[in-house]
Amino acid sequence: MFEKNDVLKVVYKKISAAVIENKSLIIAANWKMNKNTTEITEFLNNLNKISWNGKNTVILFPPYPYLYLTRDILRYSKVLYGMQNVHWEDSGAFTGEVSCSMAHDFGCKYVIIGHSERRNIFFETDEILKRKLEEVFKHNLFLIFCVGEKLDERKDNRFKEVIKNQIVKGLGTTSCEDLQKIIIAYEPVWAIGTGLNATPDQVEEVHSYIKDLLKELYGLTVARKMPILYGGSAKAGNVREIALANEVSGFLIGGASLKIDEFSQIISLLE
Ligand code: PGA
Repeated sequence: MFEKNDVLKVVYKKISAAVIENKSLIIAANWKMNKNTTEITEFLNNLNKISWNGKNTVILFPPYPYLYLTRDILRYSKVLYGMQNVHWEDSGAFTGEVSCSMAHDFGCKYVIIGHSERRNIFFETDEILKRKLEEVFKHNLFLIFCVGEKLDERKDNRFKEVIKNQIVKGLGTTSCEDLQKIIIAYEPVWAIGTGLNATPDQVEEVHSYIKDLLKELYGLTVARKMPILYGGSAKAGNVREIALANEVSGFLIGGASLKIDEFSQIISLLE
């Protein structure tokens, strides 16, 4: 005799598998300032051995000096890659910066703009981010635009206001054509690198709020196509339940993307 709970568990498993199977997800790895030549070579060679069904898109963001190596090892791979940041000018006297032309030169298709570490450690303002966005569009690259509240803003229940501001000021009057190149990443700052992820309910609440805001700003047709990723201590142990939440189109993963075992597990869990 089956217990009622066992039956419910089986039903839940089947339904969740069907939901995930039907979602085309983006799995983005933000390596930040981590890894060296040996580690990247080993990771990418192992990644090349993994096969997955192709409904999902995998994008890697290695540190700049390893883009050439990444391009070389991934030359026959469907894995995409990009830059963690970019400058708003195309060339010139900007010591330590890199441009969108350079991203193209290395075969990058994506850049990350507005990561909370850029906003908070490197003081990038909404105005700076807007200029970067315009530069990215000029160069026909895709971008992941990060938004998210800090812990005190969450505690004061101001997270929606903060996120709205970041989106309105950053994306502003972007044209419909350019909006199609944007992926939003909701990354609550209190969850980044802390091991403390937002719950699926919190993720769903914010993602639905962002989607409604995008509809209001840009209309239903455009908003519907804009993916929203979740980031903040996403890992093998939580990606499936978060992926089930409404309006979750994938993940931007830091720490858990650094080890090939966990990263490949995440890829297969989301198939
Ligand atoms: P985390 O980082 O997965 O280590 O929390 C995510 C990010 O900063 O994009």
